[in-house]
Amino acid sequence: MIQIENLRKVYDNQYEALKSINLEINEGELVCLLGPSGCGKTTILNLIAGLLDPTSGDIKFDGETIIDKHPKDRNIGLVFQNYALYPHMTVLENVMFPLVVGKNKKSKKEAIEIAKKYMKITSIEELADKKPGEMSGGQQQRVAITRALVQNPKILLLDEPLSNLDARLRLKIREEIRRLVKEIGITTVFVTHDQEEALSISDRIVLMNGGVVQQFDAPQNLYLEPANLFVAQFMGNPIINIFEMEKHGNQLVGGDFSIDLAHLAVDRIKASIDKTKYYVGIRPEYFIPTTGNSLFTTIIEANELIGKDCILNFTANGVNAKSITEISNSTDEGATVGFTIDYNGIYLFEENGERVY
Ligand SMILES: Nc1ncnc2c1ncn2[C@@H]1O[C@H](COP(=O)(O)OP(=O)(O)O)[C@@H](O)[C@H]1O
Ligand SMILES: [Mg+2]
Repeated sequence: MIQIENLRKVYDNQYEALKSINLEINEGELVCLLGPSGCGKTTILNLIAGLLDPTSGDIKFDGETIIDKHPKDRNIGLVFQNYALYPHMTVLENVMFPLVVGKNKKSKKEAIEIAKKYMKITSIEELADKKPGEMSGGQQQRVAITRALVQNPKILLLDEPLSNLDARLRLKIREEIRRLVKEIGITTVFVTHDQEEALSISDRIVLMNGGVVQQFDAPQNLYLEPANLFVAQFMGNPIINIFEMEKHGNQLVGGDFSIDLAHLAVDRIKASIDKTKYYVGIRPEYFIPTTGNSLFTTIIEANELIGKDCILNFTANGVNAKSITEISNSTDEGATVGFTIDYNGIYLFEENGERVY
């Protein structure tokens, strides 16, 4: 288990990259650090690896602090975006390398045996005699992952390992990584800025912004139960529609439609709704085109087909909005369409971003 306690990092230029991070990552868990560029993901990974020193706070492996341990003594496997293979060595030599250097070095025979065992697991046996320059990006990254695993580390850290690969290969290798780390049972921290990647491979996701953990939760909860406005807007494609609305009596009032607070599900209300301004979040799948009774009607400005679905673009309450619906509901641009919303699918946020419904 990895425990991160009140971890803070202020760089030499006084920039506070991590404010106060608290995380508990379970044995064998695959956790993604997700968030926009600059939010502090790599900083956390480098602190776990020992490549950086924290300003304050603690990191423990199985209850024991490792802050003062040298990176080499932390029993960690590291994989970076740029594969960092030795260009003059073959694949086998690259994979063996960690085994034939340092304190606990193995005999050459033993190193080859171990390397080959892992190369079998990662399906790169047939590349053994190739040099990195002769391989595709995907193959090079498999080699880098294999090299990180041969020392049988307790923890595997991967920093945007798929960013240099094309879209198709990214899908394939991320599935391989999940299968591999689950097969080995190794605790894994995977950094990505790609929500889809994080959703597809993680047991849990740490969503960060500005050096602060916004939510640490199961993938589906980030989407269905966002902790705040940032999480709601980060997760989901197309992104959630947000409307600034004012409370008048029991209504949140907008130009085209209003939200009747009496219709909210009581068990979803998290705090009293007594402010004057709210952000109302409605995911595109909860704007439902209808031919019957509608909440409001509007003109379809654009209709994007994406496989079995289509995205209807329109203006509501004075801002651009999107509905995602089945292709059979596809509508001509310029057509007037009525929409309803499902109150179970809406979210309310206070001006400071805190979710109240
Ligand atoms: N050595 C450094 N000195 C000063 N600021 C840094 C240094 N390294 C990173 N930063 C800043 O810290 C923030 C977090 O960086 P990083 O952890 O690399 O973000 P991420 O990996 O999420 O993109 C960024 O704003 C970055 O510019
Ligand atoms: Mg980074």
